[in-house]
Amino acid sequence: MTPDQKTLVQETWKMAAPNAEAVAQLFYQRLFALDPAIERLFAGSNMAAQRAKLVQALRLAVEGLDDLDGLVPVIEDLGRRHVGYGVKASHYDTVGAALLWTLERGLGQAWTAETKAAWTEVYGLLAGVMQQSEGGSEAAA
Ligand code: HEM
Repeated sequence: MTPDQKTLVQETWKMAAPNAEAVAQLFYQRLFALDPAIERLFAGSNMAAQRAKLVQALRLAVEGLDDLDGLVPVIEDLGRRHVGYGVKASHYDTVGAALLWTLERGLGQAWTAETKAAWTEVYGLLAGVMQQSEGGSEAAA
């Protein structure tokens, strides 16, 4: 992730944030359309609460790009909890695709090749850290 990509993600997040609830709704609609099996993972979930949690986590991650050392342990913990939710590696690709699709629709003209590349990079970073925590090399600490 270059400094320019970080700035682009933070700026476009600010553009999307006022409509975060609608963006999150669109995201889950798209996610469940891409893979109906994923919807079953949320069968017992309060989706309004879940949308708020997702938005809050994305906000924290986007703001946390300024302090990766502080962000990484938080994202590792999030990744560990996701193992318990039944989330598999392949799901991360589908979630990434749904997120990019949603941002493209939400951002309109601000969605450029550079914006797409920046969000792809940042999502890849988050998904990578979430999954890398599954090995738990520091689990004994
Ligand atoms: C960057 C990627 C992701 C972020 C930021 C994220 C964020 C969150 C957050 C904040 C929660 C609330 C519970 C907690 O904090 O532990 C949650 C729960 C959950 N997430 Fe994710 N998630 C991501 C990826 C995924 C993926 C790839 C899947 C698989 C389809 C998934 C499925 C779930 C499920 C099933 C729950 C539990 C819902 C419940 O308990 O009602 N998430 N996620």
